Amino acid sequence: MKGGDILTWQLYQGDALKIIKDLVSESIHCCVTSPPYWGLRDYGVEGQLGLEPTPEEYVSKVVEVFREVKRVLRKDGTLWLNLGDSYAKEGLSGMGDPTIGERNLGGMEPIKKKIPQGLKPKDLVGIPWRVAFALQSDGWYLRSDIIWSKPNPMPESVIDRPSKSHEYIFLLSKSNRYYYDYKSIKEPVTESSIKRLAQTTLADQRGSSRVPCKTNGNMKAVGGIEYRNKRTVWNIPTSRFSEAHFATFPTELVKPCILAGCPVGGTALDPYAGSGTTLFVAEQLERNSVGIELKPEYCSLINRRMAGIETNLFQMQ
Ligand SMILES: C[S@@+](CC[C@H](N)C(=O)[O-])C[C@H]1O[C@@H](n2cnc3c(N)ncnc32)[C@H](O)[C@@H]1O
Repeated sequence: MKGGDILTWQLYQGDALKIIKDLVSESIHCCVTSPPYWGLRDYGVEGQLGLEPTPEEYVSKVVEVFREVKRVLRKDGTLWLNLGDSYAKEGLSGMGDPTIGERNLGGMEPIKKKIPQGLKPKDLVGIPWRVAFALQSDGWYLRSDIIWSKPNPMPESVIDRPSKSHEYIFLLSKSNRYYYDYKSIKEPVTESSIKRLAQTTLADQRGSSRVPCKTNGNMKAVGGIEYRNKRTVWNIPTSRFSEAHFATFPTELVKPCILAGCPVGGTALDPYAGSGTTLFVAEQLERNSVGIELKPEYCSLINRRMAGIETNLFQMQ
């Protein structure tokens, strides 16, 4: 930021698709967002995304919204899209889905779920990848899947599959070359790599030549590198918020997306703002932000959070 520059954040209450249509083309550096997951919960507000009867209808709505997001992104802009999955099942859901490790957070209406055509009870729906491939077909560059690994997943009562402890974040870009500040999110190398890199010559290195069938000699990397390119598995605990009735982003999940995707003084967008984590983190990192949220109560929450009144919304991790 240059001295005298003022950071701004704007919040629009309403439907994401309708409001994005009014935003200026190529005005946004990056979009960091978590749309409502398919068939998971009823936010109790008309026009909400996520209650479409079939995965196909959900995917096609998401594609329509993100086509507009693509228009408002700069040519070098990126989209960081967090999506969770669910299982095909009959009956009530939507109070927090224990099949993907969610608690009943309260304040939600249950949803009556049916088995989507083509799926069997217990099938993983695969929504994240369905959306990712549909966006790719719609012209986005699908650049990376990132695993949000949760060290504190909710216990599940299943004994016929592993317990779910991850969600996806997809990094998509509008063009084949785009803004990505890898330096700002480099991560420390492991203890073993530090030891290995501390060896000053190849002759010092022992061990790797013993790997069966290894034909290219000893390890190559020597030198004092302490940081490496950020990897695709991000180990971040989920956050607990006393007031928000839905899954909120941990701030630590949003930070790398904004650091790498948006320059200081640039603008980040979240069309499904919820409790406003993207806006809040953008401000902390000296970026501008634009948020859209359908539910008026959540907009009030965001206003309080951004005014620094709702302190428990960013202190509880
Ligand atoms: C998973 S939450 C987002 C949580 C957010 N990432 C956070 O950190 O708090 C999804 C949000 O999308 C909102 N929403 C649902 N349908 C919408 C629509 N059509 N337009 C805008 N917002 C919508 C919901 O009210 C909810 O707050």
